[in-house]
Amino acid sequence: MIRIVLLGPPGSGKGTQASALQKRRGIPHIASGDLLRANVRDNTELGRQAKPYMNRGDLVPDTLILDMMAERLSQPDARKGCILDGFPRTVAQAEALEQRLEQIGCELDAVIYLRVPEAEILRRLSGRRTCPACNAVYHVDTMPPQREGICDACAAELVQRQDEKPDVIRKRLEVYEEQTQPLLRFYRGRSLLHEIDGTIGVDNAMDAIEDIVANARASAQEQTA
Ligand code: AP5
Repeated sequence: MIRIVLLGPPGSGKGTQASALQKRRGIPHIASGDLLRANVRDNTELGRQAKPYMNRGDLVPDTLILDMMAERLSQPDARKGCILDGFPRTVAQAEALEQRLEQIGCELDAVIYLRVPEAEILRRLSGRRTCPACNAVYHVDTMPPQREGICDACAAELVQRQDEKPDVIRKRLEVYEEQTQPLLRFYRGRSLLHEIDGTIGVDNAMDAIEDIVANARASAQEQTA
């Protein structure tokens, strides 16, 4: 089993890659954004607190995120491995994740940064459609569902997310630059960072991610041998 973080700006394809990898390898895909949206939908206390931040494109405060992720990572399916999507997103979250993994005697295999130019991000986000029931992601032009507006996996009606208005997208990109981009340096310093071109197509990007993980594992085994 593997433990990886997918890093990248909004719309870079983190969710798409993580969900494809989950299907291919059976590793749980844990997306902080999906967990938050489920809490908003269910009107939980966490959802009520997080909603205003999400709607304006700001990050939800670290304390709320760390409690939510600690709870998710302690579930049995995540003990053997996970693909983290959207978490960590600040240096404080990355440090907390590192400590938590240390406590349970494991570590990240790799952090994979999906590099996508801004014009492509805007094109992707304006055409994205999401399934509110199972979180499957589509694009009206490049990855349409078989029946327009209907999820292939669970037949629910597809929606555009609340945070896909142009001004909120701009804000999310600014927040990414200020608060999440510093993680590239953080993980480069730990020799965990790998960069891939996020425009090479979903299958090619997934093959690149699998190669990175296989190499990371092989070099970790060499070091312990
Ligand atoms: P979150 O849900 O994590 O959103 P995000 O990081 O902004 O990322 P997206 O889900 O928008 O994009 P993605 O990279 O997953 O791209 P996707 O695969 O969908 O967070 C939402 C909010 O929650 C945040 O703003 C914040 O408020 C809060 N939050 C979440 N986590 C937090 C945390 N840790 N701390 C604090 N706050 C947090 O793809 C996009 C589109 O492109 C799709 O249409 C897809 O079909 C298409 N596409 C994907 N890959 C390709 C490809 N290779 N070629 C062509 N098209 C592609």
